[in-house]
Amino acid sequence: MKREKTWKDLVPVAELEDQWVSRVTFGSRLIAVYDTPSGYYASLALCNHGGADLCDGYFDGHIIECPLHQGAFDVRNGKPISAPATRRMITFETRNVDGILQIRI
Ligand code: FES
Repeated sequence: MKREKTWKDLVPVAELEDQWVSRVTFGSRLIAVYDTPSGYYASLALCNHGGADLCDGYFDGHIIECPLHQGAFDVRNGKPISAPATRRMITFETRNVDGILQIRI
């Protein structure tokens, strides 16, 4: 049976890197949080191509480039936009509630 997603506190917004990507530990998961011109987005931090930590990659606008093989993803929807990344990354909805960034997970 599929578990229903709920909103969970992730991190105070004040602790996030400005206009950059931040690594946040959430239970046993590593989450990448992206501060973009259109708001905050979040995904699993490990690249689905080879497991590199996307938080060590290059971030610009809405695009994260993996540090290992330079595959790239659009953080708004997880879509791969540059090889060798070919699979959509797992993303999470976000919302800011009184200065706490929440993800729907
Ligand atoms: S590990 Fe990210 S593109 Fe290969």
